[in-house]
Amino acid sequence: MNISLTPQQVEDKYLRYYNLINDALGNCFTKNNPQSLYAPARYILEGKGKRIRPFLTLLAAEAVSGSSTNAIHSAVAIEILHNFTLVHDDIMDQAELRHGRPTIHVKWDANAAILSGDMMIAYAYECVLQTKTSRHDELVHILNEANITICEGQALDMEFEQRKDPTIADYLDMISKKTGRLISASLETGGIVGDATPEQLEKLITFGSKIGRAFQVQDDYLDIMAEDGKSGKVSGGDVINGKKTYLLLRSLDLTSGKEHDILQSVIDNKGISPERVPEIRAIYEQCGVLDEARNIINNDTEEALSAVDTLPYEEGREYLKGFALKLMKRDF
Ligand code: IPE
Ligand code: IPE
Ligand code: MG
Ligand code: MG
Ligand code: MG
Repeated sequence: MNISLTPQQVEDKYLRYYNLINDALGNCFTKNNPQSLYAPARYILEGKGKRIRPFLTLLAAEAVSGSSTNAIHSAVAIEILHNFTLVHDDIMDQAELRHGRPTIHVKWDANAAILSGDMMIAYAYECVLQTKTSRHDELVHILNEANITICEGQALDMEFEQRKDPTIADYLDMISKKTGRLISASLETGGIVGDATPEQLEKLITFGSKIGRAFQVQDDYLDIMAEDGKSGKVSGGDVINGKKTYLLLRSLDLTSGKEHDILQSVIDNKGISPERVPEIRAIYEQCGVLDEARNIINNDTEEALSAVDTLPYEEGREYLKGFALKLMKRDF
């Protein structure tokens, strides 16, 4: 697939918009009282999030010939909604680290994390309503529907832990809900603000759901394969918790004998001690599952690129494609 921009041009735009998004987020949750409600919300937004979703919102508005300036409130709404999901996800996953810092339920407590998360959802809706557009009802509908879909995905993720033998197809369906939908909704909201036609919105949604699925497969991959400290999360957290990720499910099919038994014990014992993470990493490296994960990521990204190839504004479209390629190669 040909892209008319250099990786450096994509990087430059990402950094410029990253700063813009962070400035806008810095103006949120400025109230101090009650401290235990607003301080955690500020804390999660001050973390080193990549701002992928709001960046996609801004790019999507441009790709349909709209203004990204008008889309900033929607971009902020999406990022706040995303951060709410992280706060609650960390309680559910009993995760101790996020962005290289203690998670909110560890630094404060679970009640503070639940309540701040609840408040952040409502705050996100206030932000989206500040968008200059005549299509507020559509924006609110997208946020609602995405929010419900994430909850479905997270519920399926939890149910997975109790299920004996979920399939790869079940896994792909679960991740398209817990992760893919918010990424496609990021693009859809940007498209609405840019006054996209229904056909253009369809293309943006397809692009988003493809890169969204690739994004979660890569998240599973990086959970155990990222260079030490780079992900900002506990390295190998998924196997420590016995999570049935793509890597674990598929490597069970690809191994036999002793290696298979070790992987099966991760599921049977609902996890493994942190000292044994390198053992699992070595099995993944040898059994071919990493290449298969890489293939899913590459194929989904290729399909995403072709989905947006006919959007009207060439420069905006090329940035979307360039950013999808950057995400495909991410290492944190
Ligand atoms: C983490 O998303 C949660 C997933 C859906 C995998 P990100 O990796 O985009 O998180 P931040 O915002 O950059 O921390
Ligand atoms: C994240 O899945 C999904 C949502 C936050 C909705 P993970 O549980 O894999 O995300 P990380 O790895 O904790 O960021
Ligand atoms: Mg998690
Ligand atoms: Mg999770
Ligand atoms: Mg993860």
